[in-house]
Amino acid sequence: MGDPGSPAAGPTQGGDLAADIDRAGEILARAQYVVVLTGAGVSKESGIPTFRGDGGLWTVNGEPPMNGFQLFLEDTAGWWRQRLDRRRADEADPASFARAVDEARPNPAHAALAELEHLGVVRHLITQNVDDLHRRAGQREITEIHGNRHWMRCLDCGARWPASEFPVDEGRLPPRCAQPGCEGVVKDDTVMFGEPIPAEALSRCDAESRRADCFLVVGTSAVVMPAAGFPLLAWQRGAPLVEVNPEPTPLTGYAEVSCRGAAGDVLPELAAAVRARRAAGA
Ligand code: APR
Repeated sequence: MGDPGSPAAGPTQGGDLAADIDRAGEILARAQYVVVLTGAGVSKESGIPTFRGDGGLWTVNGEPPMNGFQLFLEDTAGWWRQRLDRRRADEADPASFARAVDEARPNPAHAALAELEHLGVVRHLITQNVDDLHRRAGQREITEIHGNRHWMRCLDCGARWPASEFPVDEGRLPPRCAQPGCEGVVKDDTVMFGEPIPAEALSRCDAESRRADCFLVVGTSAVVMPAAGFPLLAWQRGAPLVEVNPEPTPLTGYAEVSCRGAAGDVLPELAAAVRARRAAGA
């Protein structure tokens, strides 16, 4: 995507959160095709740490190697052995990130976004999260651009299965594809650093971003491409951006309004504001 150009003026951030939420509700209620991008911040109130920022997983433990996919391809059987060992260790460690995600439940932010889909306001949701919480909250039109940690995927044919339906035989690693005639290596559906994002997911996000007449960005630091570029595809065509984040991000300058608050607090109020305006015939 080329240079989006610089924003004319920053968001109407009056520092009055209630007024910002009301303004955001007005913008969403007026739109016909709202697309959403979420990041780790939307799951914070579900007990899942973010990656960056205060208390983030990588802020505390340092970033993982950026060539994870390359390392996987070099020794897929060895990678799988380590992964199975790590899973056993995580299951035994109540403080592990994996346990936090496994025990997480959708929070009011996920529920509000599912309600906005039910109201016909949100038409598609792109998430960078792999925690499955949007789907469990009832969201239906979703693209999980970084995959889903509860699914497995064949690297050759792209076939996907729920991990619970794909037993891994530790005596035959790496696991191979179950599709007739395909012997591809199977890995977690979660996209690794250095791994191409599945083409189907990318083209869906591109198409939805170009249809959007309003883009709601929730709980992402907006530093990872291509995800952070999708809101700008809409902005370049004149669609207003609405942001929900306790902190400013590289997208804040493009936003009509940026609600400085936690998703679990702001989104239920935003959904109520939209519902009220829609009921009043906005
Ligand atoms: N509500 C909303 N947003 C919040 C909250 C909250 N309660 N708490 C923190 N945030 C915001 C932070 O201010 C930050 O902008 O959530 C964002 C989290 O940023 P990251 O940790 O960078 O997560 P994310 O943007 O999803 O990262 C994108 O990077 O490493 C890759 O694959 C990983 O999908 C991830 C991608």
